[in-house]
Amino acid sequence: MKKFFIIMIALFAAFATRADEGMWLLSLLNKNMDTMREMGCKLSAEDIYSVNQACLKDAVVGLGRTGRPFSHFCTGEIISPKGLVMTNHHCAFSLIQEQSTVEHDYLSNGFWAYSLQEEISNPGTSASILQWMEDVTGRVNATLNDGMSESERDAAIATVSREIVKEAVAGKKLVAQVQSMFEGNQFFLFVYKIYPDVRLVGAPSQSMGKFGGDTDNWMWPRHTADFSLLRIYTAPDGEPAAYSPANVPLRPRHFFPVSAKGVQDGDFAMVMGFPGSTDHFLTSFGLEETMEVTNTIRHEVRTEILRVMKAGMDASPKTRIQYAAMYAQCANYWKYSREQNIALRNLNTMATKLQVERDFTAWVNADPARVARYGKALEWIKEGYRSAREGSVTTAYLGEALFAPELPRFAYEIGNAIEVLCSPDTPDNRKANLRERLKEATTRFFENMNAGIDEQLVAVLFEIYRDKVDAGNWPEFFQLVQKKYKGDFKKFAREMYAKSIFAHPEKLDAFIDNPVLKKLDADIVYRAGKDLRTLYARVNGETAGARRDIEKGSRLFVDGLMKMNPEKAWSPDANSTIRLTYGKVGSYRPKDGVIYDYYTTLTGVMEKEGPAGGEFEVPAKLKELYAARDFAPYGKDYLVTCFITNNDITGGNSGSPVINANGELIGAAFDGNSEAMSGDIDFEENLQRCINVDTRYVLFVIDKIAGAKNLLEEMTIVY
Ligand code: ARG
Repeated sequence: MKKFFIIMIALFAAFATRADEGMWLLSLLNKNMDTMREMGCKLSAEDIYSVNQACLKDAVVGLGRTGRPFSHFCTGEIISPKGLVMTNHHCAFSLIQEQSTVEHDYLSNGFWAYSLQEEISNPGTSASILQWMEDVTGRVNATLNDGMSESERDAAIATVSREIVKEAVAGKKLVAQVQSMFEGNQFFLFVYKIYPDVRLVGAPSQSMGKFGGDTDNWMWPRHTADFSLLRIYTAPDGEPAAYSPANVPLRPRHFFPVSAKGVQDGDFAMVMGFPGSTDHFLTSFGLEETMEVTNTIRHEVRTEILRVMKAGMDASPKTRIQYAAMYAQCANYWKYSREQNIALRNLNTMATKLQVERDFTAWVNADPARVARYGKALEWIKEGYRSAREGSVTTAYLGEALFAPELPRFAYEIGNAIEVLCSPDTPDNRKANLRERLKEATTRFFENMNAGIDEQLVAVLFEIYRDKVDAGNWPEFFQLVQKKYKGDFKKFAREMYAKSIFAHPEKLDAFIDNPVLKKLDADIVYRAGKDLRTLYARVNGETAGARRDIEKGSRLFVDGLMKMNPEKAWSPDANSTIRLTYGKVGSYRPKDGVIYDYYTTLTGVMEKEGPAGGEFEVPAKLKELYAARDFAPYGKDYLVTCFITNNDITGGNSGSPVINANGELIGAAFDGNSEAMSGDIDFEENLQRCINVDTRYVLFVIDKIAGAKNLLEEMTIVY
């Protein structure tokens, strides 16, 4: 009897923690609804995604940047009828940083608008709301055939995609894209409204919003109030419009009620948002490259970048603010790379991948027709990675080391425009236009430029590149450094900053007004930028063939895997399009003998407290509220800060709404756990957790720390 019980409990526990792995496409949710309802969800597919009626997707926002509207860097959710949006603190971090000065330090002190007038505009940030999506695979495939080369195929896809997009947006203020899914086996159209007027409304001090800093990043248990508030504005007619004082708050089709009821172990939870990229179909060959090349080089180079930045930031309050966002961004994937390699080794993801490939090969070999179609897929991939290897190493060092310092990258970016400006063949009106754009770019560049640190970065990082990359793949100016400067990159860096017109705003300005080609050719920063362009194009060209082989092989591999398991519900890898992942609130076992609870409380903040100015500083006000147990109505004896769910999320999902069975907001997703950092490559059923800030902590901070009753009044809070 006892034994029977134990088995029952074990089965039940396994069932209770099972995540229905996947980042599901909203228009295909019907096939998941039964499982979702079994898990406790009270909503219908139409409540979540509908073309005809207001639904949850109308309140989910992809945050993007002007010029790159589809590569959503984060997600937000609308929480009031006046377009109020919640996202993470780390998503608005660079906005907060850009608005901060030593005198008005919103990073250290937080920022709160107590009226619409006080909200700060942020040109460059946009918010996309999905209008509808559609499977267009049939129409795309009709233009493709097996005889096409990879480039013919790409061109055909681009052509038909343009047509599809054009038809979808015709005559409307809409923006659309066709995105490939399953490594080019399926295609979906996404149609958005994109709002370019997004303003900063509120953010806690970083001692709360970034509590735990890089030490706690990617870790559970967590105690971070990782949230901030934005607002979407529209033209008076409700349509998207660039910033104007005449704009009004967005009147959304839907907004999330905010729950103050809290979560229990095992509760249904789902997350909607814009995950950036995952690699669930990565092969053993790709995995080897990720571990040995991408992750290893990224971690190695960024260790040096962070060391240089930190020394500068510690020495000057101005530099601390100037580099805050860049430092955090660099540190985020620096730590990720290391933790991912550790998790991949601990969990032996390689063995899992090899097994999948063995099964695939056996399935292929069982049928001559399959051999004809899929027989070479894995070989193409393997050979592609092998022949691109040197190029991949070069590209990794190029991206991480040569492109990290800002001055040579700036020259790389504007070099082309400068050349056109210098050319006698360029018509005058084109020149005037270029001048204007170059001056804007120059102003923007020097606003955040810190010559002292950047010079050190050039010295340190260019030397790493020289030592690690074969001389055949050096940018041409390295020869000059070797000869004229005897390989002394410090000296070279000093000269760059002392002499180049690109390093001095007045000189560059004067040059743009009166460009002389000869002066340009003698400029070492210009030359560096030009050599970087040449090198980048060459290395890219050399690996293009291999990349196409990998692409083609992967498309067939994934197609085969899906045909091999037709019963399985397959979900496509993340690609910055809107998705839903569902699962449950729940604890986990990070290692033998240890269980991590599913929530944390303010007590943990006090336990973690460290010195002022450090990552674990606790603001005095928070300590007072804690001492007085002043939590009501968001908590009684304790206040929950964060909780975890087994949802499948990744970067880009940051800020995503965590939604309960009734469609109410219970949190905002902000991180993953280090033990399952391999999850972007292979979902870890028992170990992977999504880390969320609890809406009760959010409401508590808005109410008792900020005193922003104006914001609470806008919301529909459910007690
Ligand atoms: N790991 C989080 C993400 O990628 C970012 C957290 C930011 N916090 C920090 N300490 N850097 O979404």
